[in-house]
Amino acid sequence: MKSNRTINNSQLAISLNSLLLLMLLVVNSYAQTLNPLETDPRAARAGGSIFRAQCATCHGADAKGISTIDAPDLTMMWSQRQLSEEDVFQTIRDGISGSIMPPHSFPDTEIWMLVSFLRSVAEVGTSNEVAGDSSRGAQLFTRYCSDCHRANGNGGSLGPDLSNITARRSLSALISSIRNPSVNITRLYKPVSFITMDNESVQGTIKSEDAFSIQMMDSNQVLRGFTKSNLRELRYEQQSLMPTFAESSLSNTDVDDLISYLQSNRSR
Ligand code: HEC
Ligand code: HEC
Repeated sequence: MKSNRTINNSQLAISLNSLLLLMLLVVNSYAQTLNPLETDPRAARAGGSIFRAQCATCHGADAKGISTIDAPDLTMMWSQRQLSEEDVFQTIRDGISGSIMPPHSFPDTEIWMLVSFLRSVAEVGTSNEVAGDSSRGAQLFTRYCSDCHRANGNGGSLGPDLSNITARRSLSALISSIRNPSVNITRLYKPVSFITMDNESVQGTIKSEDAFSIQMMDSNQVLRGFTKSNLRELRYEQQSLMPTFAESSLSNTDVDDLISYLQSNRSR
């Protein structure tokens, strides 16, 4: 009899405990601003599938946006602005009024999966100080890079301005851009080449394009516009206009020095 009672008491204690736990979880899921799926590695993968089905037509399968319809690059939003996961959750659920970004009536769990996915593809920048000699890097930059790139206001513009690039790209992304530029070609710098009706052959990067015309920067860094029907031949190239820098031309130490220089003139 006595032992039975003890069992009953502890059973009661257990069910009370689980009830409390349940209530805490419920209250938490309303009050918290943290992604409840944060620690679940499957969430980002599941979110990726939802993203490709529901969002990729506008934001691109890689979430890097589609400029022709002004759908923003979602990999950059975290590093460009101080966004919380809750902000992104709300945007996905409510949409953005006055734009084509629609509201979504998905269950909360699926929205958090999307948030997890977007977190996993976010560009985070080069957060650690790279051990390199930045003044040597400055010299290397002038010698090998500044014909095409600006940093600190000086340099060419065939390639993107690199003044703040370390705030937007990870160390491995930067190294890969230098060693294998064609693997991931930056938007607005896609290479194109064509031959005009007067047999001029032109190479450069596409700035904007529609069915009839193309605006580009040619390899002499002059902005030019062409009507497509006036072109004899138009080719979208796979090879970046940036040369590949192998270890034989830039050692790993050189690359560290260059990145350290780029980091030293980062403004935020
Ligand atoms: C019909 C096209 C379209 C679809 C589909 C779409 N979006 Fe958007 N989205 C946009 C546009 C356009 C904007 C920019 C709106 C503005 O700021 O004016 C935007 C903005 C956003 C933003 C805010 C970005 C920022 O910088 O604050 C997030 C987050 C976002 N979309 C996520 C999603 C997700 C996740 C999905 C799929 C569930 C999705 N979108 C589906 C067009 C779309
Ligand atoms: C002949 C012109 C040219 C030279 C020289 C050149 N680049 Fe580039 N670079 C480009 C172009 C064009 C792009 C954009 C296309 C692409 O991503 O490949 C680019 C892209 C990059 C990117 C990627 C930027 C981004 O938004 O992710 C980095 C980083 C970069 N270059 C670094 C360098 C460094 C460092 C050097 C010198 C060692 C260098 N480049 C020399 C033309 C050049």
